[in-house]
Amino acid sequence: MSRVNITAATGDSVVQPVRIGLCGLGTVGSGTFNLLQENAEAIAARAQAPLAIVHIGARRDNPACDTGDVRVSRDIFAVVADPEVDVLVELIGGTTVARELVEAAIRSGKHVVTANKALIAEYGNELFALAAEHNVALRYEAAVAGGIPIIKALREGLAGNHIEWLAGIINGTGNFILSEMREHRREFSDVLAEAQALGYAEADPAFDVEGIDAAHKLVILASIAFGIPLQFASVYTEGITRLTPQDLDYAEELGYRVKHLGIAKQGPRGVELRVHPTLIPADRLLANVNGVKNAVLVEGSAVGPTLYYGAGAGGKPTASAVVADLVDLARDLSAGQVSRVPSLSFANEALRDLPIVPMAEVETPWYLRMEAEDRTGVLSRIATIFSDHGISIEALIQKAPAAGQTTVPLIVLTNLAAQGRVDAAVTQIEALDTIAGQVVRIRVEFLDG
Ligand code: HSE
Repeated sequence: MSRVNITAATGDSVVQPVRIGLCGLGTVGSGTFNLLQENAEAIAARAQAPLAIVHIGARRDNPACDTGDVRVSRDIFAVVADPEVDVLVELIGGTTVARELVEAAIRSGKHVVTANKALIAEYGNELFALAAEHNVALRYEAAVAGGIPIIKALREGLAGNHIEWLAGIINGTGNFILSEMREHRREFSDVLAEAQALGYAEADPAFDVEGIDAAHKLVILASIAFGIPLQFASVYTEGITRLTPQDLDYAEELGYRVKHLGIAKQGPRGVELRVHPTLIPADRLLANVNGVKNAVLVEGSAVGPTLYYGAGAGGKPTASAVVADLVDLARDLSAGQVSRVPSLSFANEALRDLPIVPMAEVETPWYLRMEAEDRTGVLSRIATIFSDHGISIEALIQKAPAAGQTTVPLIVLTNLAAQGRVDAAVTQIEALDTIAGQVVRIRVEFLDG
């Protein structure tokens, strides 16, 4: 589809705008609307065509943006039905109405740009196939890590590499909470309320703190990196709600920081897909990514480690990614193409059906904390259990008892050990009458290749 028309009367060339239907006028929707107005000239120059919002679908107005004389419909499906709309920007979130909306847009021949990670992670395989069938683009840069162009980096910038692994802080709300708890000793719930007020958190913040949002994003990154189908159900997901200030402090004393990481690794036994709190050495760049910032570390076979850092949530940063997709799409359309780069993989190759490594077999070092009675023989009994399960101890530290406690905290750092072995050892340790309560388990990653 050419975007250049020659006017009959004068012979002048007129570039037709790319006509956008914007659905959703919340934090990201209003951020996108405003960014397209504020930087209209530069964006039009880069896109080689003006990007014009011609129709907005939103249940209510948002005082954060003045929509002027742009048509606004309360029924978002009116935007899909509008023949004036070339591209539908879906920013309503969720996987029910949003899915219907995106499917309807694709079926009616409209290109789609979305920030919806849940939709892509859970229904992307079907949606990309539908988009290909209807010869339209489905773009989703804003779905992962807010404003960081990580999708573009993986699909294009690293196209010459075999991606070995990636590890990322990919939920801004969770990172904001952990940073504030560590730096300012603030309470979990208080920081979460602030993240919600700032527009970082999901409509249901359990998605942030239970790791579901990070799992959505991880599955998208892993699909691109390894050329595998999207498989949200295969991601092991553990949130940050059970982390205590005590463990954050002990980690710090041992030279580590606790971060909530999404990790995808490709190895001889298949692919590891996991989201969980992780101790990482405090001098690693990822350990020093704080607040709502996200960062993704990608290990490529040729380039080695590369790190992508920036705002992972919020209206303007996410709008930055939405607009980048629109500019890319406009450039493709000017060149008479729909999707210069394939949706998921590096190339138009078939996606690979690699096995997912069961968590029981995933090996990491471990931080284990237990409350033990301070008497002779306790340590040696624990050491024997570890040894019986083939787990080698890197360090064992006994802390002073907390005020009013008779038990002492014991912290064990292990060498590489499969989760199955650790689970079995911990079950035996928790059954000892000299151990109170449950053993805290946090995986350790060195992130050094
Ligand atoms: N709730 C998400 C986060 C928003 O905090 O990262 C961006 O996806």
